[in-house]
Amino acid sequence: MKTLAIVLAAGEGTRMKSATPKVLHKVAGLSMVGHVLSAVKSSVASEAAIVIGPNRDDVGAEAARVFPGISTHVQTERLGTAHAVLHARADLAKGHDVVIVLFADTPLVRPETITKLRDAVLAGNAVVGLGFRAADPTGYGRFIMDGNALTAIREHKDASETERLINLCNAGLMALDGRKALSIIERIGNANAQKEFYLTDAVEVARSMGLSASVVEAPEDEVMGVNDRVQLSEAEVVFQKRMREAAMRAGATLIDPASTFFSHDTKIGRDVIVEPNVFFGNGVTIGDRSIIRASSHCEQAEIGEDCEIGPFARLRPGAKLAAKVKVGNFVEIKNTDVGAGAKVPHLSYVGDATIGASANIGAGVVTCNYDGFLKHRTVIGKGAFVGTNSSLVAPVTIGEGAFTGSGSVITESVPADALGLGRARQTIKEGWAAKFRTVMQAKKDAKKSG
Ligand code: UD1
Ligand code: CA
Repeated sequence: MKTLAIVLAAGEGTRMKSATPKVLHKVAGLSMVGHVLSAVKSSVASEAAIVIGPNRDDVGAEAARVFPGISTHVQTERLGTAHAVLHARADLAKGHDVVIVLFADTPLVRPETITKLRDAVLAGNAVVGLGFRAADPTGYGRFIMDGNALTAIREHKDASETERLINLCNAGLMALDGRKALSIIERIGNANAQKEFYLTDAVEVARSMGLSASVVEAPEDEVMGVNDRVQLSEAEVVFQKRMREAAMRAGATLIDPASTFFSHDTKIGRDVIVEPNVFFGNGVTIGDRSIIRASSHCEQAEIGEDCEIGPFARLRPGAKLAAKVKVGNFVEIKNTDVGAGAKVPHLSYVGDATIGASANIGAGVVTCNYDGFLKHRTVIGKGAFVGTNSSLVAPVTIGEGAFTGSGSVITESVPADALGLGRARQTIKEGWAAKFRTVMQAKKDAKKSG
């Protein structure tokens, strides 16, 4: 079956107060247009088109990143939703079983809902609107029903007093019979309060052609539109709640779900425990039975099974931890492979490195990976023991099973099983402190009496 999704993203308001186009603002680390397209991709659509405003190549590029092969159309004049859809005429003319129209600023639509819309078309309806029961219907198009049949969608501005009492509202998404969509939408006129070509008029047009229309209902929070940053934060709340519940239902324990922040793509295993105040940026995978302790921040990081992270740990892009790795408090790891069972327990920066299995990195160890121009790698062999407060000046290798002395500045590679020392040799001056105290006390007394 061939399904075409058309996403409308042209003509946005100015209420975001932003240099970034509205639909590129993110919810859980993914642009709003990306959310819509990934819901489409994971449900029904084999093909997609997007209608963007002029000079919005950035929106087109994001759409193509999320939905490769999407066709892009530019609407230069904002003459209404039906007018926008007709910009994808070339795609519509290809002939699909179902066409689904979505709004790029309605990011929370679930794949299941899109599938329901499609199925209602396959059940014999030429047009299917997505409805919701609005707590406050002001501003929305109203569904005029005759039993289960949808007879019209009336825009708020065109609605009568009685029609305005209806609380079954139009979410904006619509599915159409693919073989009839073009002929229906082409017949839509603009004789209305806003002199716009309303896609919503597809309902009455279809009925005048002897075709039927119906409604699929969704919860209000799934179809919320985002027009400003307050609504953006509300969408974030709804989406986070979904992610948290999905994680818990999949077998993770979130001690304080409300302070665990996920990205749209976070993958979390079974029996993972997440303590309060944890933020997952994009691209994080957490293996089974790992524990993420309080106040940790992870981004583009792979955490293996049975790991222990934090409290107060930071995993930056390219941190790749094998099983049973321990990353303790105030430790930052970037672009580093950490072998199974290795430990970086306290106060370290490890960047651009490889740490072998079972190696132990002492407190305060720093990889000096950057010389102001280039980044260099540090390689630490299996079972190595890097002493507390060692500075490893990359490029440098600590061999398997080797030690470095505490406080060393290691500038040359240390062979396997050797000890690398790079610090001043300690000297002892017997009695120095006692003499020092006597001399200084005498000086102080002389000053007082003088
Ligand atoms: C639309 C619906 C209304 C519904 C509401 C839900 C129509 C006519 N009305 O109203 O029934 O209750 O959404 O939020 O469809 N767009 C274009 N080009 C245009 C016009 C709009 O691309 O020429 C895009 C917008 O960027 C937006 C979407 O279409 O993503 C909806 O347009 P908007 O003007 O916001 O419609 P509403 O008046 O909110
Ligand atoms: Ca709107």
